[in-house]
Amino acid sequence: SDSSPDALDHEQLRVVRGRRSGVVIAVAVHSTQAGPAIGGCRITSYSHWRDGLDDVVRLSRAMTEKAALAGLPHGGGKSVIMDADAVLDERDRLLVLEDLAEVITSLDGAYLTGPDIGSTPEDMEIIHGLTGGLAFCRPESGGGSGNSSTATARGVLAALDAAADHVFGTGADLRVGVIGYGSVGRLVADELAARGCAVTTGDLDGSRRAVAEAAGLTWSTEDLLGEEFDVLVPAAVGGLLSEERARTCRARLIVGPANNQLTHDGVGSTLHERGVTWVPDVVASAGGIIHAVCREELGLTEEETTRRITAIGATVTEILTDARESGTTPQTAARDLAARRRTAVPA
Ligand code: PHE
Repeated sequence: SDSSPDALDHEQLRVVRGRRSGVVIAVAVHSTQAGPAIGGCRITSYSHWRDGLDDVVRLSRAMTEKAALAGLPHGGGKSVIMDADAVLDERDRLLVLEDLAEVITSLDGAYLTGPDIGSTPEDMEIIHGLTGGLAFCRPESGGGSGNSSTATARGVLAALDAAADHVFGTGADLRVGVIGYGSVGRLVADELAARGCAVTTGDLDGSRRAVAEAAGLTWSTEDLLGEEFDVLVPAAVGGLLSEERARTCRARLIVGPANNQLTHDGVGSTLHERGVTWVPDVVASAGGIIHAVCREELGLTEEETTRRITAIGATVTEILTDARESGTTPQTAARDLAARRRTAVPA
């Protein structure tokens, strides 16, 4: 079933060692039921290739739910480039993108890629050229919709505002912790600070500290999950909420753009039982794909696209209200809503 983390419920899983680069690449097509699978290309190092495989399997599955909840005519997919030593130089990078493009081309339109952690609009330009158009988010100068981070951050803020209304009544004077000050985290953190929230952030990359402090944020090298906040925003890599950490975390509301925040489904119940409201990442992180698909494929204006991104707030309200009324977790409510919206999407 959809929710079993052990079942391979995917349509396709390709694992190749790129013949040009020698780098291991995995592409997962979870579902094309609602339309071509969409999902970004992650370039990162894994301590073991099996971890990369796990990642692509889980991330692609989440994309199916994300697209359904966002009402987009797409299923979910994902690709990972396992940059073993995190040392891809410019030449190797081009080779590995060529290798990925070959896999994407062989999937014959079943999978459309986009940027994710470690990849850029410039990379998408290259893949778009090599695949005859199977990549979103090329630079605007090249006719694409550009970096998706701004749209993702806008969606996170819409989700956060709606969830804060639901949990606290009003969004005034929130103490917020933002885990990860990367491409999306920094936009969310800076905006919240500009609104007058007390924002603490931290990132494994210590060189980001100066920028954060200049924006008026408090920098912390502590584990923010263990600190007391009203709202915690996971904006780094996923898997930060394990069973154990869910039992000790001290935030009342968790909402952010990181994909696959829970190490497994049961963690959602633990958070729920402790009275911590968790907004499913598949809802909060959808701004990027909404923007890319609306602009590049559906031909909507920037204004209409923004409206669809901020509608994430209404989706969050619907999910949290459903969950409250039926005594289920937001996760279950989101899954039910995804199923309803999936059947509503024209094939
Ligand atoms: N990184 C984006 C996500 O996880 C993926 C994406 C964005 C894919 C834009 C396509 C277009 O949702």
